Amino acid sequence: MRKPLIAGNWKMNGSPELLETMTQSLASAQISSSVDVAIIPPFTLLTSAQGLLADSPVALGAQTLHPESSGAYTGEISASMLVQCGVTCVLVGHSERRTLFGEDDQAVLARVRAALAAGLTPVLCIGETLEEREADRVESVVLGQVSAVFDALSAEERSQLVIAYEPVWAIGTGRTATPDQAQQVHAMIRAWLSDKDPALGEGMRLLYGGSMKADNAADLLSRPDIDGGLIGGASLKPDDFIAICHAAG
Ligand code: G3P
Repeated sequence: MRKPLIAGNWKMNGSPELLETMTQSLASAQISSSVDVAIIPPFTLLTSAQGLLADSPVALGAQTLHPESSGAYTGEISASMLVQCGVTCVLVGHSERRTLFGEDDQAVLARVRAALAAGLTPVLCIGETLEEREADRVESVVLGQVSAVFDALSAEERSQLVIAYEPVWAIGTGRTATPDQAQQVHAMIRAWLSDKDPALGEGMRLLYGGSMKADNAADLLSRPDIDGGLIGGASLKPDDFIAICHAAG
């Protein structure tokens, strides 16, 4: 049985005040222990979050990392630096990293490897654009992104990952994939993984991201191959994010 995971990707948003409010709200929300919860604030808030979450079951994540362990990479953050901040998971290949910062599949793989080497859980973000969906290329695009990483990893490494399917056309648009649309792609991903290794397919947590909100989370999370959510806008509103966490429980 896969334990649901709800992770809030703050992107380039948030403040020390929001971090304080969010961590306090999560602490008093009595979210079921059957649900894993993570917050993924900007780098600037990680050290403060580490302190605020010290005795909390809520995990701390990061939004990206540099593949090198150290060196002349101005402005970048390494996996070991994230570990020092108490980070346990890291997004890799978010569509905004792919489209705005030129991260191709090889760059994504390098970041997955760096995360694994540091003991971090990579959350591999994949998803098609509207143009690709309208061209009936969802399967080739999504499975291409998955295989570019999974085909290069060992069986042990593969088992450490989480996958987040985020149709690009649903991110930040309020246009959520229907539960049927999301389930269909999740089932396709799981079938591909299971063809590799039945245990891998069965154990892999597949999160949905793309305008998941308090009012649609329960429908999405009720589907058999949707094991949680990667939440953007709604993760900046404590009440909404907590409602989504409750919907997963
Ligand atoms: O990483 C999660 C994010 O891309 C989804 O954003 O605002 O559509 O929930 P949003």
